[in-house]
Amino acid sequence: MTHVEHLETDSKFDKNRNMAATSTKFLSVWNMEAYYGESYIVQGVSFDIHEGEILALLGRNGAGKTSTLRALARMDDPQLNHGEIWLDHKPVHEMKAWQASQAGIQLVPEDRSIIPGLTVEENLKLAQIAPPHGWSIERVYELFPRLKERRNQEGVTLSGGEQQMLAIARALCRDIKILLLDEPYEGLAPVIVQEIAKTLQLIRDQGITTIIVEQNAVAALKLADRAVILDIGKVVYDGSATEVLEDEALRSKYLAI
Ligand SMILES: Nc1ncnc2c1ncn2[C@@H]1O[C@H](COP(=O)(O)OP(=O)(O)OP(=O)(O)O)[C@@H](O)[C@H]1O
Ligand SMILES: [Mg+2]
Repeated sequence: MTHVEHLETDSKFDKNRNMAATSTKFLSVWNMEAYYGESYIVQGVSFDIHEGEILALLGRNGAGKTSTLRALARMDDPQLNHGEIWLDHKPVHEMKAWQASQAGIQLVPEDRSIIPGLTVEENLKLAQIAPPHGWSIERVYELFPRLKERRNQEGVTLSGGEQQMLAIARALCRDIKILLLDEPYEGLAPVIVQEIAKTLQLIRDQGITTIIVEQNAVAALKLADRAVILDIGKVVYDGSATEVLEDEALRSKYLAI
């Protein structure tokens, strides 16, 4: 059984909640509930990720994907009112956004947030302004030779694909344990999507754990090891990415593809 409705009605699930702290799972999200003011948006989301895995977090427009990533990164909005988030045995649910970032949660938002007026290299150096540091700039350039070529160009003048690379590179320059990507392929040509997907595989090969949110569900599923599908703020599928690709009924029901 791959659908997870059974989890939500399983009373033993509650008793096992402290398992999250002790299990071998790298990231454990348990019963996360988050609100924008009075609006109840993330409605009891639970899932786990092993270290080095790529998880595709999918669902229709408004399903709660961005809100889930923001809650994981402990942004002020949406407000996390209930649930636990454990990253490598640390209680992220007790942290503020800056502490979650220091603990290694790096969110690359949909708008990529490249700093205007700064070159590519200055954008990367800024990411390293305060410890703890992650990858060196030289290591990042090995992964993204294009960024090295454009190191002295202003970041915001890069192409969309290069800006996405810079946004990912910047996250790697911080002390990184898990990379959260919100729609990294948005607006990019298929050939650039492939290039970024290859880079994300190389990043996985170096042991980094990733959650990718994408409207381009097929591309995300081809890349990912596992998939979690959200619908109206709840998990409706948690299983292998390949299975979603092969299950036409599931895809049309929750992903409209
Ligand atoms: N700042 C906000 N204040 C109030 N409601 C919000 C806010 N941001 C998002 N929402 C609502 O929360 C729900 C989930 O939004 P969210 O952006 O998380 O969805 P999503 O799955 O990322 O969608 P998309 O695929 O369109 O990016 C939507 O109903 C949205 O209208
Ligand atoms: Mg979104």
